[in-house]
Amino acid sequence: MAYYEDAQGGGVLVHAGVVSPHPPVRPTGLLIVDLPPVEQVATGIATARLVVAVGMRAIIQEQYGGPDVLTLAERPDPKVAPGELLIRVKSAGVNPVDWKLGAGYLDSMMEARFPIIPGWDVSGVVEAVGLDVHEYRVGDEVIGYARKDWVANGTYAELVAANVRHIAAKPRALDWNEAAGLPLAGLTAYQMLDRARIAEGDTVVVHAAAGGVGTFATQLAVARGARVIGTASERNHDFLRELGAEPVTYGDGLVERVRALAPEGIDAAVDCVGGESIDASRELLKDLSRLVSVADPRAEELGGASMWVRPSAADLTELSRLADAGELRVFVDRVLPLEEAAEAWRLSQEGRARGKIVLSVS
Ligand SMILES: NC(=O)c1ccc[n+]([C@@H]2O[C@H](COP(=O)([O-])OP(=O)(O)OC[C@H]3O[C@@H](n4cnc5c(N)ncnc54)[C@H](OP(=O)(O)O)[C@@H]3O)[C@@H](O)[C@H]2O)c1
Repeated sequence: MAYYEDAQGGGVLVHAGVVSPHPPVRPTGLLIVDLPPVEQVATGIATARLVVAVGMRAIIQEQYGGPDVLTLAERPDPKVAPGELLIRVKSAGVNPVDWKLGAGYLDSMMEARFPIIPGWDVSGVVEAVGLDVHEYRVGDEVIGYARKDWVANGTYAELVAANVRHIAAKPRALDWNEAAGLPLAGLTAYQMLDRARIAEGDTVVVHAAAGGVGTFATQLAVARGARVIGTASERNHDFLRELGAEPVTYGDGLVERVRALAPEGIDAAVDCVGGESIDASRELLKDLSRLVSVADPRAEELGGASMWVRPSAADLTELSRLADAGELRVFVDRVLPLEEAAEAWRLSQEGRARGKIVLSVS
């Protein structure tokens, strides 16, 4: 990628042979050289300098807001601290938490260092390793839930530095987009099932079984030998049957519909919705300590657990193994290019994804 600038500071961006006359940003991290005459002709700039971008492409936001505040920018390559890997990003998974953080909903909990690069899920290739890192080598294919202690240099970028404790080997059975959809939602489902103590013979309701977390929770619970009743709209009922679940429609009458399937009540509830799903679970559960929610803190007040997923290389390695063994599938609903991150957020905000939304980066 190259950026050509005239004496007045006007510029054009040339990327993969395509000339864009009004680039949204001036690149940072620059090497300035004279522009040869032939390229002056190609770009239409008479007296110019060629400004070679040595940074990376990334989606940034300069302030809190919705999809409209996301822009494509050039940013300096991330540094690789001890304990970290530098990953050349192939794909970045999109999660509801990305736009919730971007809107500032979690500002009381996590510090945002603007400009933010959103995104926590990644699949990619190791480009460099921190001084103390011996687990991975340059060229290894990895996945990660690359959460940091603050909100800043995320995965919607060509490069991301990630803590080695948040990384696992990429499952060979998955393509890059599927692999990027696995970490955050897969870990959430895996850790929710542990918290709800899901075991063989249990009857469990998964609320929002067709979503990012729900598709994993359903498959993992079925694999543990549980009977899964999954909530979704009717268009997803055949899909849930394919996953091994018995589908029920959410909304008014949910309790009666679940009771018709399980008159003796349910053993556990895994909730990715909140509100009505908590009310329904309260009526249906035999033991409220087996209610686990990632969407409603009331679960805790009722004696269950309100959970936040934790990065874990060990849990992610197990998910990777299950994917390679053919026991866990990743359903990718939509793949968009990096520059369409705003559209990916809009889709995620609609809350209708079947499985994952993913950004393809390189
Ligand atoms: N605390 C944590 O650690 C944590 C971790 C991950 C996710 N979360 C939260 O958990 C929620 C789900 O995340 P996700 O990634 O799974 O979201 P998602 O993929 O965007 O969920 C989309 C799915 O939700 C279903 N859905 C929408 N309204 C529903 C309702 N009232 N009842 C049942 N299903 C409904 C849709 O099915 P239909 O199209 O059939 O309606 C769709 O398949 C989000 O709020 C997210 O922020 C929290």
